[in-house]
Amino acid sequence: MFITFEGPDGSGKTYQLAIFADYLKDKGYPVLTTREPGGTSIGDQIRDVLHDMNNTEMRPHTEILLYQASRAQLVEQVIVPHLKSGGIILCDRYADSTLAYQGYGHQLNLKKLAALIDFATRGLTPDLSLLLDVDVGEGLRRRARGGEWNRLDAYDLDFHQRVRKGYHELVRQEPQRWVVIDAGQPPERVQADIRKFVMERLAKSG
Ligand code: TYD
Repeated sequence: MFITFEGPDGSGKTYQLAIFADYLKDKGYPVLTTREPGGTSIGDQIRDVLHDMNNTEMRPHTEILLYQASRAQLVEQVIVPHLKSGGIILCDRYADSTLAYQGYGHQLNLKKLAALIDFATRGLTPDLSLLLDVDVGEGLRRRARGGEWNRLDAYDLDFHQRVRKGYHELVRQEPQRWVVIDAGQPPERVQADIRKFVMERLAKSG
């Protein structure tokens, strides 16, 4: 089963994913965690370029192609082999981040983005996607407090609002794939919701 964690910046998904992965491992599930951009040696090098605060001249099209390059490498090198061996993948961001950030955030053509994503992933879509949904202002305050501020967080508030709305639009288009989790709750409540929904889904998939 291929599970992705999505959400606006500061939704706490990285933290929640790590705790949930430990929980599944304790139960004996063959879990592999990974993240985007990154997750491979090549992907991590691409990630450094994307996050570098000095790369202020980065154009949206460049950004898009770098994300797809990182993703293509991750799919072939990590995700597909693990799924083939019967494992569970927990991935911190995936293709929906491109649609939410580049599509809705930067307002680039969604159909063209979908075609690029399809090329990069060879059509591999998640079985389940969790949207860790949080108020945009609250998310950015959390990020700033955590000292984890990168080039992409520095886009304006309207951009981040469009990203959040974009996620909701993606959920509306494919409700069967998504679970929306209120990430404004205390962390232990967020984790409890994640466990409840994913364990239900795992039970159903046998
Ligand atoms: P990261 O430090 O991983 O932040 P987070 O913990 O919020 O995931 O930075 C990832 C950033 O990259 C985040 O701001 C979203 C952005 N992003 C895109 O814009 N498009 C994409 O396709 C992906 C995968 C990420």
